[in-house]
Amino acid sequence: MPGFELFGDKERREVQQVLDTGVLMRYGFDGIREGRWKAAELEKQLAVRMQVPYAQLVSSGTAALTVALACAGVGAGDEVILPTFTFVASFEAVLALGAIPVLVDIDDTLTLAPAAVKAAVTDKTKVVMPVHMCGSMADLAALKYICVEHGLLLVEDACQAIGGTYQGKPLGSYGDLGCFSFDYVKTITCGEGGAVIMRDVNLYRKADHYSDHGHDHRGKDRGAEGHPFMGYNFRISELHAAVGLAQLGRLDEFLKIQEKHYGILRQCLGRIQGVRFRRVPETGVENYSFLSFFLEDEARARKAHKALSAAGIDGCFYWFDNNWHYHRHWEHLKRAHSLSPLGKTVEASLQNQSDRDFSASDQWMGRTVSCLIKLGWTDKEVAARGAAMAEALKKST
Ligand SMILES: Cc1ncc(COP(=O)(O)O)c(C=O)c1O
Repeated sequence: MPGFELFGDKERREVQQVLDTGVLMRYGFDGIREGRWKAAELEKQLAVRMQVPYAQLVSSGTAALTVALACAGVGAGDEVILPTFTFVASFEAVLALGAIPVLVDIDDTLTLAPAAVKAAVTDKTKVVMPVHMCGSMADLAALKYICVEHGLLLVEDACQAIGGTYQGKPLGSYGDLGCFSFDYVKTITCGEGGAVIMRDVNLYRKADHYSDHGHDHRGKDRGAEGHPFMGYNFRISELHAAVGLAQLGRLDEFLKIQEKHYGILRQCLGRIQGVRFRRVPETGVENYSFLSFFLEDEARARKAHKALSAAGIDGCFYWFDNNWHYHRHWEHLKRAHSLSPLGKTVEASLQNQSDRDFSASDQWMGRTVSCLIKLGWTDKEVAARGAAMAEALKKST
């Protein structure tokens, strides 16, 4: 999936323009920046591409989640519902705000199961945060319904799914707030970076101020700016934004390549008995960054994953055993291992959740293998890869 594979002249040109002025900061220095505002320009272009009025760039996807949750008013003792299959950043962002991450089961979309979300809502819940893992989305209409019913905000983590759509809308733009990561291995990259998008001007103002120490960005003198509320430094630099500007311009080119490669591999695997693809909710269109499929049971999935590796197929993941993306091995979260006290309420809640039954998630993840889609493959390489994958899976299923 990574845009870094096709890093080239456009990226170099944008970065060079920043180096030429020497203004690496996104705010201020108007006199010497020669009219170059890479972060502001990227925000404008991202908002247009995502069909929303507002985009706020930040320093990472993790920062984007933190800023989005802060804008949603999440704070001490509030609960945020998130899936068992995600990235550790999801619960890190919640805990950073003094709130409680509530893990909830996934279904065959590999994202939040709406029925499980409904059952997990309490009077402390503030946000439902679906995570569109591996390029495909949650059943957003069902989640929105639950949010409206209970007065909650829907925050989409679209860090792994930029360019996908749901009901014709870009992923990230369906909920109240949407988050992207532009780290080095995402579909488009800034090196490190992230963004929050939204339609509501008040949420935008909060994101703008909060991500820059609470600055209200009025006037031309940073030292004289007001601070309507406290914030942090989640700023992106002009250098990172410059790379992102070039990469955003290439997003549709990258998506087209991903879709083509995904289609070829899917056709090869679709003929194999016992292989079933992940469910994409109705009206959803993936961004094709991964091809994820189920085997009939855990034993067969383990065998298939081993067979793919033995056949020299790189980039295939068995998330069930993965420490970054699946709840099973998050001992540090379950035991509240933190450098500093998290507070009695949060610690007690993590303790209470530590033995919860996630067998519904386990039965899907235990059967799942995901293979990433690279941009740099030639047609010949994809065809050969598809044939080799099919061969390995046939033998192992
Ligand atoms: C689903 C998801 N959310 C959030 C993040 C955090 O993004 P970043 O690495 O830019 O902090 C990642 C990064 O891998 C991710 O995969």
